[in-house]
Parts: sequence; C-alpha cells; structure tokens
Amino acid sequence: MPYYSEDDIQRVIESNDIVDVVSEHIELKRAGSNYKGLCPFHSEKTPSFMVSPSKQIYHCFGCGEGGDVIGFVMKHLGIEFPEALELLADRTSIQLEKESSQENNEKNNKRNRLFDLNRDAARYFYNNLRKNRVAYNYLLNRGINDNTIKAFGIGYAYDTWEDLLNHLKSKGYQDSEMADVGLIIERKNKSGHYDRFRNRIMFPIINTKGKVIGFGGRVIDDSQPKYLNSPDSLVFAKGNNLYNLNIAKKYSRGNDIILVEGYMDVIALFNYGIKNCVASLGTAFTPNQAKLLKRYSNEFYICYDSDTAGLKATDKAFDIFKELGIDVKAIVLPSGKDPDDFIKEYGKSAFLRLKNNSLNFIDFKIHFYKSIYDLTQLEGKIGFTREIAKTLKNVKSPVEVDAYIAKISQETKISTDAIKNEIYGGTNNYKNKTNPKDKYISNKYRNNNRERIIPVKHNLEPGHLNAERNLLSLIINDKKIYAKVKEVFTPSDFLNEINRQIARLVYGMYEEENSVFEDKIINSFEGENLEKVQSIINTNIQLDDREKIKAVDDFIGKIQRYNLKIKKDEIKKQIEEIVSNNEKTEGDEETFKLLCSELTRIERELKFHR
Ligand code: UTP
Ligand code: MN
Repeated sequence: MPYYSEDDIQRVIESNDIVDVVSEHIELKRAGSNYKGLCPFHSEKTPSFMVSPSKQIYHCFGCGEGGDVIGFVMKHLGIEFPEALELLADRTSIQLEKESSQENNEKNNKRNRLFDLNRDAARYFYNNLRKNRVAYNYLLNRGINDNTIKAFGIGYAYDTWEDLLNHLKSKGYQDSEMADVGLIIERKNKSGHYDRFRNRIMFPIINTKGKVIGFGGRVIDDSQPKYLNSPDSLVFAKGNNLYNLNIAKKYSRGNDIILVEGYMDVIALFNYGIKNCVASLGTAFTPNQAKLLKRYSNEFYICYDSDTAGLKATDKAFDIFKELGIDVKAIVLPSGKDPDDFIKEYGKSAFLRLKNNSLNFIDFKIHFYKSIYDLTQLEGKIGFTREIAKTLKNVKSPVEVDAYIAKISQETKISTDAIKNEIYGGTNNYKNKTNPKDKYISNKYRNNNRERIIPVKHNLEPGHLNAERNLLSLIINDKKIYAKVKEVFTPSDFLNEINRQIARLVYGMYEEENSVFEDKIINSFEGENLEKVQSIINTNIQLDDREKIKAVDDFIGKIQRYNLKIKKDEIKKQIEEIVSNNEKTEGDEETFKLLCSELTRIERELKFHR
C-alpha cells in the first residue's frame, strides 16, 4: 500500500469542496448556511444529512455518520483511503507524491515479521494444549473432536506470566514486537512485560491469505472476561476481518456463508459438518466485513444468538448488508439459544431445516419489532407499525407491500388505511415538521389519545417573528427568491399563524399563476391582521441579489434554530410527563426511549446550526 504525505492529503482536501463532491453523488438542497439531503448511509424520508461548506464536513443526524470529503468518498463508494485520495486528486488534477519505497519496504518487512511471530505463538499454544489435560478435556467436554482442534489450530496459553514471552524470546523476537501485536503487555512500573493470555483456550485468527493476524482466548473457568481478543495492530484490524473466513471461503465456493456471533458457534457448526460459517470478532458487524464477505459469496445468512442483544445485532447487520445491496436472510433460533447450543441439542438436520425456513428482511423486522413492542398496548402497536412502515416504504413491489400491510393490520388491529398513511403519508418532508409529537404518533391515534397531549403555547420571540416577516417580504417581492426558498422552506415552517396563512397564499399563487397578486392577499385578511399583512407586503428590502440570498440564509437559519428549540422544549415536556406518571406502561418506556434519542438528535443538530 502506498503512503502519502500529510501535505498532499491537505492539498486534496482543500481543493475538493465537500459540497461539490457530495452533490455529484446525492441531491443537496440549501438549508440556511448548510446543505441538506437524504442520507446515503441509512434509509430515511426526511433529510437529516447535512453538509457544512464552512466546516467542510458532512454529518448525518439520523445515523451519526460524518467526516470530511475523503471520508465521504471512502464510505460512499466503499473504497479504501488511498483509492479515495487518488480519485479526489485526479478530480482536481493534483499530482500525488508517494513516499519513498524504502519506507514501504520497511513497513512490509515489519509486517511479515509480525505474521511470523504470531504463527510461532499459535504453534506454541497448539502444542501446549496436548500437554494440558484440563484444557484439552474442556474442549472434549464441549464436544470438540481432534479433527476440529486441528482444523482451527486451537491451543492453550499456560497459567503463568512470562511463558510465551520467554518462548518467543528464545526464537529471536524482541519484546517490542510481541507488544506490537499485543501478545505481551508492559508492566505498570515499566520493569518489563507479561503475557496477555494466561490460562485460556486460544483461537488463532487467520486471514484469507493464511496469515495468523491475532487471537481470541477463552477462559476455562468462570473468570472474566470470558473472551479476550488481541488488540488491533499493524497486522490486525477487527472490523476488517472475520473469524474463519479462511476456511469458510473454501467451503462456500459460490454457495452461502453463515454469519454467527462467536468463535465457539463457528467451531461447533464445523464439528457438525457445517463449515461455511464466520464470526465477527467480538465487535459489531461492520460494512467492511460485509464487503469482504461479498468477495466470496452472493448468499448470506445471519444466525446470531436468540436473545435481545442478538436480535438487535441481527437487525443492524441486516441494514449493513442491505445498504450494500447484498441479499441476506436470518436464521432464527429458539429463544435463548446460540448456534452452538442448538446444534448440540437438535443436530445438523434440524439446523438445516431452520436455515430453509429463514426469514427475509421484512419478516425478520416483523419478528424483531414484535419482540420489542408490546402489541397489547396502544403505544406498542403504534411503535411497531411505525417501524414496519419504515421498512415497507423501501419495498418496491406494491403487491408485496399490500400483503404485508394486511398481515400487520391483522396482527395489530390497526386499520390498513392507518398503516398506509404511515407509509405513504408525509411524502412532503416538511409537512409534519413543526409538531414533534407527529413523529411519534400518527394523527389518527392522536385523536384517540387526546388527553395525553399537552398543547404547548409558544410565545414567539420578536427576533424570530422579524425573521419570518422579512423572509416573507423577500419571497413576495422576488420570484427568484421564491424559487430558491420553496424547496427548503414551506408554509408550514412559518410558526406564526398569520405568516403561515400568507405563505400558503403566496406559494399557491406562485405555483398556479406564476406571480403574486397583492390584492388577493389583502382581501383575505381584515382588522388587525390586515395591518400586519400590509406592513409585510410594503416592506421592500433594498438589497442586491447576493445580499438577498445571504439575508434569506440568515433568516432561514434563525427560524430553523428556533424551530429546533421549540421541538426540544416540547420533547422535554413529554419526557417530564412520562417520568412523573406513576402508572407507566411498557409503551411509555419505548416512547420514553424514542423521546430521549430524539432529544439528543435535536441537541446535536442545534450545535451544528450554531
Ligand atoms: P458469547 O458470550 O455469546 O459467547 O460471545 P459464546 O460464543 O456463546 O461462547 P461460549 O459458548 O460461552 O464459549 C460471542 C462472541 O463475543 C465475543 C467473542 O468473540 C465471542 O465469541 N466476546 C464475548 C468477547 O470478545 N469478549 C467477551 O468477554 C465475551
Ligand atoms: Mn455459546
């Protein structure tokens, strides 16, 4: 891999404006001083993906992704840093200078030595296992036979402090090298090192090129942590590798690969003849792992533990596969079981039957959200329906959507109309913006539930009211401004009732008649309101085009900030309401969680707008 100087990297960042680059991939619209669009990294209908021209960063308030222009290109195109850098350098005709190849060679030599070191350690652990009855019996008791031990090179680390250290030293390795791959750890008083893995069953982690890149170690008693993994190093990046891909790729050969949670799941399945399994390495499954898998197969199954954590992780993994356009299904085990437990208890054919009955994306979502929401409670049904609606929104086949709507309606007793409304309603992104409650409870249910909703009366700040009025006069007096503003700012974004009414009339006239007739506006109001309307129409802000655009940005920014503050207050009120309510239902808990995450989202967004 080539290396680039920090100077070159800076030049590339500076010469590639992030707004231009992002716009080449997704549609952005101006929103105050920033740009907004639909996030390419998770599916959404309301834009929460922001690009800041002043900070030259992007950030999605929905999924939390963010970074600079190089990061965006890497993530969006699924390519590595050097590739992204070169692509952007080409885009602006920058000549990159790779660092001297001597430096490269040094790095490669170092890496190769670390691979050798890991291999020697693995051999050593493997030989130890034969000599330690307790460790060997532990594996036998777990039903793991000799062939499997050999296939995986399973070993054992003695219960002493410097055993491996001394062994590797005798083979000519330096302390610093052993520390680099995390096999030894420096003592606190810096008087030397000690072995990281002690009294553990050792699982070498081998990459697709057959190199030992790290280890996982399991205790053979009840001590903690149950599993210890090698830290990331020059030769090991957890998020970019998968346990057993070296073996699974041979057995999948165009067929499927099964993703499981743990080392022992992979091993137990192998032991029963199912050899095409991989495990993510003690971390959450990553997009890079999905991309790696894609090189070896087109058909994937997720078979995580059947507990809440496992279901949540399955849901996340599904999304990661989906976003990369990879087809995947979930094998759902009986509650509380992992693949290791299951195959031991029920055998191989039972497992293959489950695999045949695996769930597609939507059926899994239904299964998953049923486990999260209490369908006997109103809030639970609403939460459930909303989640499924989000899923169905992205399904292309109308027939399929209809079938699922019928299914959901039957399960929840929520009318098909209400579900459709949840799916197709709000295609106008800005329609529901001003009332955060709309985010949680569709209108239909709000009415049934009226007593729970506290109407909040806002006293609009004078500065905000001024911003609304000035924005309106700019729109009324300049069609070009209207054309620029209409996409990012709609009538319902005006918080003041009168301003909102005027905006509706004005937007309507522009759309239907292509210009504004002031008489029509004036005729629609009377008394005190008429005076306000007249003052807005008569305010003619004398600015040139550039200044006008800048002013519009400022006004919109001000109003949006204010909008967010109001949302924040309302959410806080609702949270307080739930907290002070003594008879909480499970639905309340879910609403509570949603409200809290919405609150943090808004706080982040407010920071961004500052
Ligand atoms: P589990 O706790 O589900 O273990 O962790 P398991 O696979 O059932 O293992 P056994 O059957 O008790 O031996 C699943 C995976 O999560 C990571 C490991 O990769 C493990 O295989 N893990 C778990 C850790 O990294 N550290 C831990 O302390 C626990
Ligand atoms: Mn287990």
